[in-house]
Amino acid sequence: MSHPQNGNGHHPEHSSVFDIASIPEIKIPPRVLMGAGPSASYPEALRAMGANTLGHLDPEFLGIMNNVGIMLRRVFKTSNPITGAVPATGTGGMEAALCNLIEPGDEVLCLVFGYFSNRMKQMSERMGARVTVIERPWGTVFTPDEVETALKGMKEPKLVSVVHAETSTGILQPVDEIAKLAHKYGALVVVDAVTSLAGCPLLVDEWELDAVFSGTQKCIGAPPGLSPITFSPRAMDAIRARKVPVQSWYFDMSLVETYWGDTGGGRAYHYTAPSNALFGLHEALRLTLLEGLENRWARHEMHSKAIMAGLLALGLEPFAQEGHRLWQINAVKVPDGLDDQLMRTRLLREYNIEIGAGLGPIKGQVWRIGVMGYSANRSNILLVLQAMEDILRDMNYPVRSGAATDAAQAVYHEYDRKQKLEARAPIRLQTEVDDPNVGESIPSESVARGVAHRD
Ligand SMILES: Cc1ncc(COP(=O)(O)O)c(C=O)c1O
Repeated sequence: MSHPQNGNGHHPEHSSVFDIASIPEIKIPPRVLMGAGPSASYPEALRAMGANTLGHLDPEFLGIMNNVGIMLRRVFKTSNPITGAVPATGTGGMEAALCNLIEPGDEVLCLVFGYFSNRMKQMSERMGARVTVIERPWGTVFTPDEVETALKGMKEPKLVSVVHAETSTGILQPVDEIAKLAHKYGALVVVDAVTSLAGCPLLVDEWELDAVFSGTQKCIGAPPGLSPITFSPRAMDAIRARKVPVQSWYFDMSLVETYWGDTGGGRAYHYTAPSNALFGLHEALRLTLLEGLENRWARHEMHSKAIMAGLLALGLEPFAQEGHRLWQINAVKVPDGLDDQLMRTRLLREYNIEIGAGLGPIKGQVWRIGVMGYSANRSNILLVLQAMEDILRDMNYPVRSGAATDAAQAVYHEYDRKQKLEARAPIRLQTEVDDPNVGESIPSESVARGVAHRD
């Protein structure tokens, strides 16, 4: 796409004389990423990715990989030995989870209630599963009864696929009760946690989830490119008991584990690990745990409450079912007669803000505002609300000046007041810059010692 603003425009590729000077150095525009993902990456993660590359069997790199595994187990809340990050985006994690557990002819129950749950269904079909589908209108969740009725109707269910946080609709599907039901009927449960990991409670061991995959680019705060994934011992037993090998050589966990796991005989090469991407994930995970996983969840909740208050004050209506709304993705209906695309284009062009559009059947009908990871901070929330208010007014949509930011600030002030009363530290984004030394970088070690941080 030609982009006159930043000079990254395309040049005729098929002209007879190619001049490399016609390709300019890339210039990355500053963006406030408040869409459905990616969110902004932590500067520490980006810095770490700029280090020199290490070989995939270099002892220093293996130490880093080990620590990524240790930190991922804490973030997933699991003790699963097979926990790591596959070199692929979230969709790759989805492929890896499903292709290891599905054998041709297996009965799979797919819970479809949005774009990504439908993707899991499509993959299961391509892998030769006999798929039973139950569907729900987008923006709503399944009840345990609906899932149990479907399981009862199946002969020998092997797997249930479910999305925990459906990014396409902004809905949170409780997965603990679905896992219980799956196990009751002898099936495993595969959970898409691309948007939920580190953004809201996800308790892999306590909820007995069997295969859970995620992405780096949402609530973790690293760039896209890796997919954290974990397999329960029960899932690994099922993989080892397969009658036919996993169709994907690359994602075959029984092979991958010889590289990831230190199984005593040392590690064997399986693929060239993207070391720099793993450096970035390492730093993003470290910051997640320095902030505290529960604090990270609480930060998403607080900013979601603030932005939702602002959006409601603009007269916008939430899309997702009450009581099941995600903190990470705040979906609101586009008011009748308003141009969805114009709002998003103006936000990007005039304010450098990206928000998400509706996908599939809700294309043009919703705006999805992401509040995730490093992007989830007070200044971003107030900026998005003010910008949307300005554009809405310009579109002749009736809004009171300052309504959105006033409503959001009221939420923040209430939090500030409670935190003061309870003498608790405010919920803040972890950064290396502290107020008294603005502009001065504080070593990460100070962060570990509990230096207060601003967002
Ligand atoms: C719930 C969910 N699942 C899967 C994916 C696919 O991940 P990726 O785009 O990183 O391949 C996404 C991406 O937004 C998602 O939100």
